[in-house]
Amino acid sequence: MTITDLRINGDRLKGTLETMATIGATPGGGVQRLALSDEDKRARDLFVKWLEELHLEITVDEMGSIFGKRAGKRNDLPPVMSGSHIDSQPKGGRFDGILGVMGPLEVLRTLHENSIDTERPIVIVDWTNEEGSRFAPAMVASGVWAGTLDRDWVYQRTDINGNKFVDELERIGYRGKAAANKWPVHAYYEYHIEQGPILQQEGKIIGAPKGILCLHWYDIYLEGEANQVGPTPMEGRHDALCAAAEMILKVNHLPQKMGGNMVATVGEIQNGPNSRNIIPDKVHFTVDIRSWDDDHALRGWDDLKADFKSIAARRGCPMRIEETWRVAHAPFAENLVRRVLDTAQELGYPSLHMVSGAGHDASYMNQIAPTSMIFVPSIDGRSHVEVENTRWEDCEAGANVLLHCILKSANEISG
Ligand code: GLV
Ligand code: MN
Ligand code: MN
Repeated sequence: MTITDLRINGDRLKGTLETMATIGATPGGGVQRLALSDEDKRARDLFVKWLEELHLEITVDEMGSIFGKRAGKRNDLPPVMSGSHIDSQPKGGRFDGILGVMGPLEVLRTLHENSIDTERPIVIVDWTNEEGSRFAPAMVASGVWAGTLDRDWVYQRTDINGNKFVDELERIGYRGKAAANKWPVHAYYEYHIEQGPILQQEGKIIGAPKGILCLHWYDIYLEGEANQVGPTPMEGRHDALCAAAEMILKVNHLPQKMGGNMVATVGEIQNGPNSRNIIPDKVHFTVDIRSWDDDHALRGWDDLKADFKSIAARRGCPMRIEETWRVAHAPFAENLVRRVLDTAQELGYPSLHMVSGAGHDASYMNQIAPTSMIFVPSIDGRSHVEVENTRWEDCEAGANVLLHCILKSANEISG
């Protein structure tokens, strides 16, 4: 058998994904493995056990990211890296993130059982807290590792119950000793489900995104005046929830108003005191704006902020805005995007050049190393939901593309 005939074991990949899907399984058929939760810990422990079976050099860094290094023939050369995340959304799916960790694991198992040595080392990684839904923002571990986010700022972030990131990291036993500090990487590949409908619509199996949209996150805090809803006249109220309601519709309308490529979403809200017979006096909600054009997204935000200010003033609701997170759009390394497309063709899988609307650790990795991604179709374009699904044969196809992209990059001596 020549190396071009090598294929991963689709049944084994399915088995590892099914086993992982039992950790944090939800009644609706999804998973809930929030970052730094007990479920995250259990999945990490299993992942580490699987890395040990391959005799990899395992490192946990101070952000809790787990690295497994397979030596090459030339360990003086920068490695090829591949990974994604084990954490999930609340009531999330069985593929988001974990496919991009189990995929390269399956690649390493295939290389191991076939005794295939590569010139460069290969590193598999699980990045902590990609989702950002328990601890905002997202992609914090790759962001710190790449040198863009500040470790201590991330450590102090809290979840909705006031638990600190650093305390939860410590609690689950994954506050590692290694510095979260980038090293030279020859190529980074992230394997992921598409999370949108395009591949299925186009009848393609492999997506090669040219990059990822910019992501801007904001947190809005509004104050009102709480009072008994019955005796208090409608005139003169300072209802923080009504102010938020007006603002939320402005967010929903923004992409249409601005034109061009943009999406804008309010996904999270807390209302206080949250009682049906008290006028709300404390509301927090989030804003997520994405575009391929960073300036367009910023102009949209300026427009929105002006609307927010006038709504807050008219309703007499003081407002505080936190500009929580900004990641520039990430145009991937063209040679690696081309490699994904070429490899798909060599393996006989129809492919598509596209963009990623979802955020990934590949965004931060792209800031420090040549990066690209491999997408496989999401059935009916559903993701971040329990019904998220991808055909097993597509999972296998994507892992085969990953295998051969990794092999090509890991056997390059120069560059
Ligand atoms: C990551 O899951 C995102 O928000 O796109
Ligand atoms: Mn993901
Ligand atoms: Mn996600």
